[in-house]
Amino acid sequence: MIPPPPSADARIFQAVLDRMPNPVGQIETTALENELAAAFGTAHAVTVSSGTAALHTALIACGIGSGDEVLLPAATVMMTVAAVTEAEARPVFVDTTPDGEMDLADLRAKVTPRARAVLPVHLHGRCGGIGELVELAQRHDLTLVEDACQAQGSLYRGRPAGTFGDVGCFSLKDGKIYSAGEGGYLLTGDSVIAERAAAYRTHWAVGASGTPAGSRLGRNYRLPELSARLARHHLSTFAGALARRRAQAALLTEAVGDLPGLAVITPSAEEEHNGYSSLWRIDMAEPRAFSLRLADAGVPNSVGTFGLCAASVHPACRYLDPAPCPVAENTIDRLLAVVLSSGDTETDLRARARIIQREARTWMAQTT
Ligand SMILES: Cc1ncc(COP(=O)(O)O)c(C=O)c1O
Repeated sequence: MIPPPPSADARIFQAVLDRMPNPVGQIETTALENELAAAFGTAHAVTVSSGTAALHTALIACGIGSGDEVLLPAATVMMTVAAVTEAEARPVFVDTTPDGEMDLADLRAKVTPRARAVLPVHLHGRCGGIGELVELAQRHDLTLVEDACQAQGSLYRGRPAGTFGDVGCFSLKDGKIYSAGEGGYLLTGDSVIAERAAAYRTHWAVGASGTPAGSRLGRNYRLPELSARLARHHLSTFAGALARRRAQAALLTEAVGDLPGLAVITPSAEEEHNGYSSLWRIDMAEPRAFSLRLADAGVPNSVGTFGLCAASVHPACRYLDPAPCPVAENTIDRLLAVVLSSGDTETDLRARARIIQREARTWMAQTT
């Protein structure tokens, strides 16, 4: 049984509109930051306007900039890469293991004297590699910034993804399990990073630990009050949303069942997956074409619908002349990550499972 989606409450909009004339306009965002910090057990949460803004702000607040190198997995989305280039740092793509985690041997080989940060991406809510990365970052004196934009609710050894690094970054974009339509936030235990992040997101109009107000350029990365109110409401109902998403993912996986050519990807024993997407490895010829076929047939998925491909072969990254990352490229090509949303009912998911079964059998018959 999939639990029902948490309902929105029209009164929250009215409550914010009633306060709109307040010129300070930081009532809801401040309350949200306090609630997020309490929910995650971190010292500080700083709200921003998007997940990309959270990543960019995190890098700036950690002092990363021109001439620095940031190591990130080739198995990522372009927003992570954009945040690094926006900070004027150089993205260095690291190959992944077949399980999608950063390959530690490749990572070590790519640590140069200019390397300043490692930026793991918990793609589709998977976070099984974070334990080893914490040790590696400490050994090489690298700042650790987690892209946990898809990992709200995922745990590693019982601890939330996004709380292992110097900073953890999250998106509140629609489609995420915890969403406010648009928005983002970052978590940190470091008060200096938190102060700098808060200053940067509002044109350095407030000072930050030795850097007076107005002494540096920043951005308008503020989260609107209305979005913050919505985010507060959704935070209060997050447990229900997470249970629903996990049940949806489990139901789709179970409904598809055993199929030749599709192998269920199971998170490691140390992970408690948030069910962001149902995940399979496509063991058939022309896997990207199969994902496209599924998207056309009504099964939204990361590769077929959103064109996910490894950053090392992404057209937008060609100018960076990246080294090949063959395992990440192959793993993403073979990844079937079915996009789930809070509104998906059991009927929707069973219908989607039948399409996957039909298309996989047809594809298998046609390509072998
Ligand atoms: C893994 C990952 N990183 C970064 C982002 C960027 O977040 P936003 O779209 O809120 O800027 C997203 C959002 O989709 C994401 O999934």
